[in-house]
Amino acid sequence: MVRSSSAMGAVLAVLGSFAASPVSADCTREDLLAAANSYVNAVTAGKIDGLKLSSTNFTYQENNKAADIKRGVLSQPLKIDLNRSTADTVACASYTMIISSGGSKPYVLATQLRHDAGDASTISMIDTIAATTGSLFFNPKQTLGYIQKENWGVLDAADRPSRDLLKRVGDAYLDMWTDAKAADSIPWGTNCERVEGSSLTRPCGGSLPHGGSAKNNGNRRYVIDETIGSVDVLCSFDSLGSLPDSHEIRLEAGKVKYVHTVTV
Ligand SMILES: *[C@@H]1O[C@H](CO)[C@@H](O)[C@H](O)[C@H]1NC(C)=O
Ligand SMILES: *[C@@H]1O[C@H](CO)[C@@H](O)[C@H](O)[C@H]1NC(C)=O
Repeated sequence: MVRSSSAMGAVLAVLGSFAASPVSADCTREDLLAAANSYVNAVTAGKIDGLKLSSTNFTYQENNKAADIKRGVLSQPLKIDLNRSTADTVACASYTMIISSGGSKPYVLATQLRHDAGDASTISMIDTIAATTGSLFFNPKQTLGYIQKENWGVLDAADRPSRDLLKRVGDAYLDMWTDAKAADSIPWGTNCERVEGSSLTRPCGGSLPHGGSAKNNGNRRYVIDETIGSVDVLCSFDSLGSLPDSHEIRLEAGKVKYVHTVTV
């Protein structure tokens, strides 16, 4: 009796230690958001000195193309009007939206940072969709006006969508141009708002595509944050012509509340 119960105890202890330390244990929300914040500060300063870039595995990508980090968006200081970040502790990645509406070169940035598995202390990829003058529906002051009024606070535990649902909604949204059934598979909220560049549609479940394009939106990169109920997908918007694109969606109580698109 004593023997078997202690054996059982040992088994439970082993299971317990697995449960307590998943692979992503070191990729904490705090570390991911601290890295995202270091990126916001680098954009403000127009300097990369404060970024802890991986010395062995680092890629900088701007508008879906590998680029020189010293020549792109980070090469000049920007005055930031709004920044907001989400964290994906499973993928060890974060997503940051930045609006800089003043200055000679205004920007709306949609940026994902990626880290090597389980270690958010160094950055292995900066992946930015950088919309500026000439981009789709580009009017950063108007975008700022809409987005400032939104609430992207942490959801109560009972209102949080599963990771799986967030991934499915993100995919279904991008599939609407090729799959006639995708739009109706999305749980639209009644008060949902869609801000595409600076174009507002409310409620957002109206005037949606129902297939028609032969080319699927490809090269999808996800940042999923259940605590905010958000999914951001960077992609190549191939259904309308290989446009560098970010789609971010927030669900509240299982229904779509906000959609943002940044398209170059
Ligand atoms: C980024 O947003 C946070 C939260 O709203 C704010 O406290 C911080 O000052 C912002 N950073 C910059 C550089 O604007
Ligand atoms: C290097 O970084 C990329 C982008 O974050 C990642 O997909 C890849 O797994 C990393 N490679 C290694 C060896 O960690």
